[in-house]
Amino acid sequence: MIITNIGLLVGLDESRLPYLRGEQMNRINSLPNAWIRVNNDCFVDWGSMESLPENIAEEERISACGGMLMPSFCDSHTHIVYAGSREGEFLDKINGLSYEEIARRGGGILNSADRLHLTSEEELLRQSMERLNEVAAMGTGCIEIKSGYGLSTADELKMLRVIAHMAEASPVTVRATFLGAHAVGRAYVGRQDDYVDLICREMLPAVSAEGLAEFVDVFCDEGFFTPAQTEKILNVAAKYGMRPKIHANELAISGGVQVGVTHRALSVDHLERIGDAELKLLSESDTVATMLPGASFFLGMPYAPARKAIESGAIVALASDYNPGSSPSGNMRMVLSLACIKMKLSPEAALNATTINGAYAMGLSNDFGSIAPGKRANFIITRPIPSLAFLPYAYSTPLISAVYLGGKPFKN
Ligand code: NIG
Ligand code: FE
Repeated sequence: MIITNIGLLVGLDESRLPYLRGEQMNRINSLPNAWIRVNNDCFVDWGSMESLPENIAEEERISACGGMLMPSFCDSHTHIVYAGSREGEFLDKINGLSYEEIARRGGGILNSADRLHLTSEEELLRQSMERLNEVAAMGTGCIEIKSGYGLSTADELKMLRVIAHMAEASPVTVRATFLGAHAVGRAYVGRQDDYVDLICREMLPAVSAEGLAEFVDVFCDEGFFTPAQTEKILNVAAKYGMRPKIHANELAISGGVQVGVTHRALSVDHLERIGDAELKLLSESDTVATMLPGASFFLGMPYAPARKAIESGAIVALASDYNPGSSPSGNMRMVLSLACIKMKLSPEAALNATTINGAYAMGLSNDFGSIAPGKRANFIITRPIPSLAFLPYAYSTPLISAVYLGGKPFKN
């Protein structure tokens, strides 16, 4: 198959770097007026329309009608397996309560855990698949999904089995993260250390025995889990070969960045509260700094200093954090726009952060996140637009005209 009449072919990758850091993030290779060839489910080659290969059967040509073609989004941090919704807390927030106050009153994550407990695995799968199809239609081709609304061994396994079923059923590439340490389960309230023991003794071995998660996460933050508890969990998870991706520094400078980098985390995520020491550490490591502007937008929190992190040489990724409490949206175009408008990233840096660096933050950048021969043909075609910057600029215009996953059109 050949896609012809591409107004701008974006994200061409000759370097095959696994990630981009610092100044590299501000460059993106593109070719105007182009074609690209896809064979089976992978990219093969490309060129400009003047050099369009001849002898291509009519039925093997698809016109992009002058639109832009770019790699699909790689959303490296989500919690899309949950039951119901939490717009009641949304009203509490409108009336002045903070995220922490809602959590202290037993709302927040525990509220979602209660709902999930009462929901059958089939129904949970149905609701979660709907969200996966929703984000795929908006251009997400790879996604990381966390557990963490179970908070008991049985319910954490239920969540992770749902994620495994989603991975099987969807053309979207799914990676699973075990986040038993998202909050202390109801049965253990006031006995946090016992809950951490339960994670180490019972949950991690069970998750590993069923092969249900590649990664392990801990909400290492004020009012949630301490760096020492995080360390304990990561040490056990390492025995099962699970690499860390840590929730760190959303509510306070928590020590989560230090724990993550020490334990060779693939990423440390959130980083709304961060100092120069943490930025220096990240610029000297290959742990990704994953930032979640949708959560800042929704909760009215400060935005993580993405531009400063790039200037200091860190690997920055951007993800949606799609979840019912702090970011009820998986729209990666919105993430792009927030990154440009609120974090002052260049459109190029924002695009790299949502594609190749997001792929790296899921261990997927060998096969996804840019356009290179042999990489999977996951891509988005837009309506004709004047330049790449138009995509984050026209932030609510429905510009995506087609989504392809593994070389096949995706329809919701
Ligand atoms: O990434 N910060 C912790 N966890 C989620 C929110 C979870 C929830 O409120 O349900 C987050 O923002
Ligand atoms: Fe999160």
